[in-house]
Parts: sequence; C-alpha cells; structure tokens
Amino acid sequence: MLKGKTIILGVSGSIAAYKAVDIARRLIRDGATVKVVMTSSATKFVTPLTFRTLTKQSVATELFTENSKSKICHISLSDEADIILVAPATANIINKTANGVADDLLSTTLLAADVPIIFAPAMNSKMYLSEATQKSLNRLKAFGFRVIEPTLGELACGEEGVGRLAEVDTIVEVIKFETAKEKDLKNRSVVVTAGGTREEIDPVRYISNRSSGKMGYAIANELTKRGAKTTLISAPTYLPTPQNVNFISVSNASDMQREMLQYFDKCDAVIMAAAVADFTPAEPVSKKIKRNKTGNFSLKLKSNPDIIKELGRIKKKQILIGFAAETEDLIENARKKIEEKNLDLIIANDVSKPEIGFEEDFNEVTILNKKGIVKKVPRMTKREIARIIVDKLVDVLD
Ligand code: CTP
Repeated sequence: MLKGKTIILGVSGSIAAYKAVDIARRLIRDGATVKVVMTSSATKFVTPLTFRTLTKQSVATELFTENSKSKICHISLSDEADIILVAPATANIINKTANGVADDLLSTTLLAADVPIIFAPAMNSKMYLSEATQKSLNRLKAFGFRVIEPTLGELACGEEGVGRLAEVDTIVEVIKFETAKEKDLKNRSVVVTAGGTREEIDPVRYISNRSSGKMGYAIANELTKRGAKTTLISAPTYLPTPQNVNFISVSNASDMQREMLQYFDKCDAVIMAAAVADFTPAEPVSKKIKRNKTGNFSLKLKSNPDIIKELGRIKKKQILIGFAAETEDLIENARKKIEEKNLDLIIANDVSKPEIGFEEDFNEVTILNKKGIVKKVPRMTKREIARIIVDKLVDVLD
C-alpha cells in the first residue's frame, strides 16, 4: 500500500524515540522507503545505526556535512519525499516549526518542505498543555500540517496525563490515508471562488463584506496538493497567492461571473466560497461623490447576478458546491439554497458565532446534499475543513 512512497521520518529527542524504530519497521513492511532525520538529542535515545540497519538508508543528523557528494541536505531531502512524519515530535520541534526556526537539519527540512507534514507529539503533559505548545499546534494546523493527537496514560516522568505518543497502528494508518489520497484529483479541473466582492460606488468607495477569503484559499491549496488543475477566481484579499493555481483576480460580482463562465464548460467542479454581494450600486459614478448640503445621501442598489444559481441552471456534469452563510435557521436555509440553486453539496456555517466563520482561521460547518446532512464538522482550522470538503467532492465525483 505504501509501495513507491518515500517517507521522511523525523525523530526528535523524546523517550518515545524508540517507538520510531517500530514505526519505521512498519512503514518499510508496507513497501515504503524510509529516510530518517534525527535531531542531535534523538541520537541520545536511539543510535543512527539502528535506523540505518533497519531502513538500509543513510541516516541524516547534521545540517552541515563535509561530504559534498552527499545528496542529503535539507532541500534535496524534502524534494525526494512524498510525506514527512515527525514522530515523536517534542515540544521543542513543534514550537520551533510553528515559528519558522531552522537551526538544525530536521527543522530546516521542515521549513523547506513542500509536501504534507504530519506531527505525532510526545512529551510531558504540562509541556503539551502549555499555552505556548497549544498555540504552536494550532498554528501548525493552520499551516496545513496534520497533528496526530497524543493519548492519555502513564508518561516517562511517572505522571499520568496526555502526552503519550499515539499508537504506532494509528500513526501508520494516518500515513497510509494521507499518501493514498494525495493525488486523487489528478486529471480533474476545479474552479474555486474566494473573498468578498467589491461593488464600486465611485472611484474611492465600495460596498463589500467581511469575508477574508481564507476558506476559499485553503480549498484551492488543498485541491492543488491533491493534483487538481485549480483555477482560483478571487475577489480582493490580503492573502498570499497560492502556488500552482491559475489565479484570476476580480473585483465585483459581474467580473467574477464573467471569468467563471470562461472556465465553467471545461471544469469538473465549482466551489463557490466567495461571498458575492447580492446588490450593487444601480448607477456607479466615475467621479468621487462630494458631500452635499443636506448632509444626507441615499444610494440606489440593484440586484447582482446569482452566479452559482445560473451555473445550477446551465450545468451538465459539473459538480456544484456552494456555501450558505447564515445567522439563523442554518440547516433550513441551507436546504432551501441547495434546492433553489441546484447544487450537489452545500457547506452551511453560522456566521453569527464569534471565533468561527468570517475573518477567523477556524470554522464549524455542516455539509449537506439534496437528501440531507452528510457531515457535521466541529470547530477546526479552515485548512482541515478544506481537506474534508475536498474529500466530499472526491466522493461525489467518483
Ligand atoms: N452566491 C452567488 N452569487 C450571488 C450570491 C451568492 O454565486 N450573487 C453563492 C455564494 O458564493 C454561496 C451561495 O451562493 O456559495 C450562497 O450564498 P449566500 O450569501 O449564503 O446566499 P444568498 O443566495 O446570497 O442568499 P441570502 O443572502 O438571502 O442568504
């Protein structure tokens, strides 16, 4: 099942380092090539020779090596890998990675990596539950890394608590799952929209909304990671442009609709994560509107096109996924929208809840199809939600 996959196993200095030997053995048994990178403190618990004998690969421990022929360096290492697993991951490597610190071979490899990264933490429970470590873990999740939560039990220091490395079986299963689904959207073409559209009133003013674009960008990133040819049609945001997407920048709803129609015919699916303004100024003006004598000003608005509804009307085989941003009757309203707009899936979220939804890194959603609720997704990072949404898209496409 892991045949042809190259896994970098990062081992950091925890008493659980000996379990990494078993992890390596299991991954190899399933067909993977395992290349081990050890931190200097990890070598105090297990010797590089143990891993070298087991994996039949040289074990990397040093950032700077005098052997110029050695292909092992922080860049080529991550280039060769399909996935990186850090197990056990200490508080040190977690906190360093979350802050972009690169001061040894493992942390440098992680910073340079362009492949999925999975952390399996193991440490004393106080260290694990500390504010710093928890914040770092949330950051890592927001970066798109996966964390295999540690379990509860007796720890090396004799205390009971959370911090034991997850079971080897669990870790191996996660690796199989993550590598199997890696390119499951190869040969598929998906269009994603993101951000809040800006409806121009005059050259300096516009009407918009609180959408940050984070959800749509996370979806676009996930799609490219999974091999899809991805077009991201984005209203203005403050986010960095994702790598390897066909990026189309638009401002208002009409522009977004025009661009969408360029790509719709040839795509397999559309995910409308954009918050499209329902109204636009009826008569935008080309000169800045001046303050008038009465001090009052009224603006006449007209309806914008409902982009996804129009796609629902003309669609052939394309899968349509919409969002329903609601402040009341979440499920009821989402059900109505899926019918009215002829969608395959809808992602409903309650935008009235603080700390989820608009502008936040976290969200909590319910995914529905025409028959009803498919999945309730509890509060988690938008990256993780993007992964679940893309999983559901794959299910519908199959
Ligand atoms: N949408 C769209 N074009 C619009 C408005 C919305 O394509 N002019 C899409 C959104 O991108 C989203 C879905 O329709 O995927 C639902 O958007 P939402 O704002 O929740 O619903 P509306 O249809 O605008 O209805 P209402 O504002 O009344 O809740």
